[in-house]
Amino acid sequence: MSNATLSDTRKRQGELGQFLTPAPVANFMASLFGPLPKVVRLLDAGAGAGALTAAFVSRLCHKKDVVRAIEATLFELDPFIQGALSKTMQDCEHRCAEAGIRFTFTIHKTDFIHDMSALLMGNLFATTPPAFNVAITNPPYRKIGIDSAERRALSSAGIETSNLYTGFIALIQKLLIPTGQIVGITPQSFCNGPYFRLFREEFLRNMELRRLHVFESRNAAFRDDSVLQENIIFHAVKGRAQPRELVVSSSSGEHGDVVAESVLAFSDVVHPHDVEKFIHIPSAPSHDAAKAIMDGLHSSLTSLGVTVSTGRVVDFRLKDSLRQEPQKGTVPLVYPCHFDAGTVRWPKPQSRKPNAILDNDDTRPWLVPSGVYLLTKRFTSKEERRRLVACLFDPDNVTAEWLGFENHLNYFHANGRGLDRSLAVGLFAFLNSTVVDQYFRRFSGHTQVNAGDLRQLAYPSRDTLHAIGIDMKSLDLPQEKIDALVAKHLHAHK
Ligand SMILES: C[S@@+](CC[C@H](N)C(=O)[O-])C[C@H]1O[C@@H](n2cnc3c(N)ncnc32)[C@H](O)[C@@H]1O
Repeated sequence: MSNATLSDTRKRQGELGQFLTPAPVANFMASLFGPLPKVVRLLDAGAGAGALTAAFVSRLCHKKDVVRAIEATLFELDPFIQGALSKTMQDCEHRCAEAGIRFTFTIHKTDFIHDMSALLMGNLFATTPPAFNVAITNPPYRKIGIDSAERRALSSAGIETSNLYTGFIALIQKLLIPTGQIVGITPQSFCNGPYFRLFREEFLRNMELRRLHVFESRNAAFRDDSVLQENIIFHAVKGRAQPRELVVSSSSGEHGDVVAESVLAFSDVVHPHDVEKFIHIPSAPSHDAAKAIMDGLHSSLTSLGVTVSTGRVVDFRLKDSLRQEPQKGTVPLVYPCHFDAGTVRWPKPQSRKPNAILDNDDTRPWLVPSGVYLLTKRFTSKEERRRLVACLFDPDNVTAEWLGFENHLNYFHANGRGLDRSLAVGLFAFLNSTVVDQYFRRFSGHTQVNAGDLRQLAYPSRDTLHAIGIDMKSLDLPQEKIDALVAKHLHAHK
């Protein structure tokens, strides 16, 4: 393929959210279904070249269980892949014929979101939506803006969500009959992303979660397509009674890897009183140890008298007030690029970001009075060792009366003002510890750490944080030293 054609293909694939499931992953997914009915009415939405249906069919042909007939319905929008899909379905037909299973299929070369939303919107004159008892899916992933056609279509079917993949899953859930099953592979972001709360609520209200599977290393499952998100596979059954326990497993996603399984209480995965309905997923034994330590902590941020907020300066909204270098009438503007060895080094010479913001009546509402603040990055790159990166703003190093914290960071404060120094240093060590990092990784599939996530966390008591803060002689300690210090005090104050 020429470079131009290759880049066109990549572009089209990106727009369609097209990342094909490798065969070993598709086979694994097909193995997760519970007992199946005699006549399987199968839905494969966003079918691509048909890898998932093929894996499902192949397994049934091999297993020869009760299934007598498979009626497959497939949706695929991309004309460039529809030929391959037809070919795969013909292969399925042959395999089934040999195995004595009746196989029929319908390929809809149309938009699944558009078509199914229209059928589900309850229009009296519309045809009744189809009903399926099995769904297997790797839906497309792409953010959908508030004004997009997809968003409007989904809204008309009573679904409010900001990504194509959750739109697909929400529609599939509605198209399943009670006891109908779904196995899906999606980004992990729906498990705790703040924008997916409504989706989680609806999903957990209507679907019984039976199995979760995560991939330990980023991109392993889709190495060839360099998908950035971490993926999760789930098996769920339409019904309203969550199981007492479910199997959570993990593997690397590489060929021939080992699947490590553990049985967890459902209440450990979705905490009964959690209004956010986060889905917590442990993936490695060290994460369990982290959970045990975190479970022993009982202070909330509120009980510590501390609040965490997202930096208030949204730079593009205050563009005219930003200055590359500090000058008369400006105050420091702090971005994550100012984080350096545990503290804020300001100003940053040759910074790509402006170092200062005018202090006037327009900008003052977005500024904070100077003081000791603890800052964390909201976004970390995957190269970063830790998912949570905390840094101390020390007013002794940066002289100013007011400060601007930019929107890409979160800041911990006491009612809008700076924190007590040793408490802030204690929080610095705790949030930079491996225990907190692993706890975060355990239930966070994405590299974004929102203020909401930090509010949810359990913290050591005020006394423990003070003690850690006093004991911490430098902010630029190696990870082992930070961990040892935090462990020592958590142990001493048990
Ligand atoms: C993530 S890929 C997965 C493909 C296939 N299921 C697999 O696992 O290999 C999602 C597929 O959905 C298709 N697609 C994207 N938007 C769609 C839509 N609105 N309706 C139907 N198919 C769509 C894409 O062209 C792509 O082939």
